Amino acid sequence: MIYDIGVIGLGVMGTNIAKNMSRKGFKVVTYDFFDDVRKNRMNELKQENVDIAASLESFVNDLKKPKNILMLVKAGEVTDQTIEKVAPLLERGDTLIDGGNEQYENTRRRNIELTEKGINYIGMGVSGGEEGALNGPSLMPGGQKKAYENVRNIFEKIAAKADDGKPCVTYIGNDGSGHYVKMIHNGIEYADMELIAESYFFMKHALKMSNDEMSDVFSEWNNGELNSYLIEITAEILKFRDEEGNYVLDLILDKAGQKGTGKWTGIEGLKLGIPLSLITDSVFVRCLSSLIDERALISEAYPSEMGTVEADKEAVLEDLKNALYISKLMCYSQGFRLLKEASDIYDWNLQLGEISMIWRKGCIIRAHFLEKINQAYTNDPGLTNLILDDFFKEIVTENQQSLRNIASSAIKNEIPMPAFLSAVSYFDSMKQKRVSSNMVQAQRDYFGAHTYERVDKDGAFHTDWF
Ligand code: 6PG
Repeated sequence: MIYDIGVIGLGVMGTNIAKNMSRKGFKVVTYDFFDDVRKNRMNELKQENVDIAASLESFVNDLKKPKNILMLVKAGEVTDQTIEKVAPLLERGDTLIDGGNEQYENTRRRNIELTEKGINYIGMGVSGGEEGALNGPSLMPGGQKKAYENVRNIFEKIAAKADDGKPCVTYIGNDGSGHYVKMIHNGIEYADMELIAESYFFMKHALKMSNDEMSDVFSEWNNGELNSYLIEITAEILKFRDEEGNYVLDLILDKAGQKGTGKWTGIEGLKLGIPLSLITDSVFVRCLSSLIDERALISEAYPSEMGTVEADKEAVLEDLKNALYISKLMCYSQGFRLLKEASDIYDWNLQLGEISMIWRKGCIIRAHFLEKINQAYTNDPGLTNLILDDFFKEIVTENQQSLRNIASSAIKNEIPMPAFLSAVSYFDSMKQKRVSSNMVQAQRDYFGAHTYERVDKDGAFHTDWF
C-alpha cells in the first residue's frame, strides 16, 4: 500500500493524530523505535485502519512522494536522534514535520541543517492535548511554505473547526515560527490558568464560598464574555467528587508542575525586551508553589489569616469577573506584543489576526474573546498594542475600577494574587507618558557615568554629580 503520510512516535499524541488522520480518509502508516510500543498499539490501530510498519525502512519506503513524515516524539535530544535516523532515508523535496513542544531555536537550526540537504522541515505547534489530537487540535505549522502546501489538505481536515467552519490551522511563517507561536500560546495558557486560580482563591477565602457555589459562578461566567475552555473545566473541577464524596480539588497538593514552555516564553520576553509580567509572574508562582517547606517555615514566622471581604457578595463577584476579564486582556496584549516584536526581529511576517483565529477551537486557551483580537488586527494590521484597539479600550476603561477594587482588596486581606497585581501595574505603567525611570538613569549616571538622554535636547549627557 502507498500511504499519504507517516507518523513516527506512538505515544498518546502520535497514536491519536494517526487515528484522526485515518478517520478523515487518509492512508496512514506509523512507526515507533520501541518494539514493545509497536506491539502494544497493534490492535488498537488496526481497528482504525492505521498500519504500523515493521521497520523504519519500510515505513519510509511505502510513503507517497514527496514523502511527508510527522514526528511526535520527545522534544530536544530524542527529536535530534529521530532526525538522524530518518533523514538519510529521505530524498530532496521530502518533508519532516515536528509536532512536539520544541524550542523554536532548535527548529530553526534543524530547518537550516535539513534545507542544506534539500529536505523541508516544518515545526508545528499542536495544542489540545490527547483529546484534541484525536478529535481536532489547533495546529501551528512553520517552515517552508511550499512544503506546507503538500500537507495542507491533511492538516485542514484533522484540525478543529471553529463555529464558522474554518479549520484551526494556518501557515504561520518560516523556520521556527510555528513553535514560537505555540510557545506564546503556552505562556498565555500559564497566565490564563493563574488568573483563574487566583479568582478561585479569592472566592474561597475572601468570600468564603463553597466549591459548589464557586462552580456555579464559573459556569455562569462561561456564558458571558469570559467564555473559554479553561473557565469551563474550572467549573467542572470545583464540583468533582471522588467515590467517598470528597472534593478532589481539595485533596490536590498545591504544587504546580511545569514542562518549560512558560519559562521559555518569559526568557524570550526578556531577550526581546518586551514586558511579559503576567506570564513571568505565573511561571514564578509555579516555582513558588514548589517551595513547600520554605513556605511552611515562613508561614510560621509570619502567622496571618486571610481576611474576609465584608461587602455585598454579588457586587464583589461582579468586580472579580470584570477584573478577570481585563487582566486576561492585559495578558493577551503582552503575549501578542511579543509576537509582533518577534515577527519583526525574526522576519516572520506573522499574521496576528489569523493566529488568534486558529486558537478559537481545539487548543487549551480556546475562547470566545479571540474573535475580538482578530477584529482588532483586521481593523489595524499594524496595531502596536491590543489595548489601543477601540473595542478593548472600552472594556479596559469600563472595567479598570473593578480590577483596582479586587487588587486592593487582595492586598488588604493578604490574599496572594500576583497575576492580578501584575495586570494593574502593567496597565498603570503603560498609561503614563512619563514613568520613574529618569531616576534610574540619574542613578546609573551618578555611580557609573552611564550617561542619559534629555527631554529637551538630543544627545547623550553626563553630569559631574560629586
Ligand atoms: C496544549 C498544552 C500542552 C501541554 C502543556 C503543559 O496546548 O495542548 O499547552 O502543550 O499540556 O505543555 O505544560 P506544563 O506542563 O508546562 O503546564
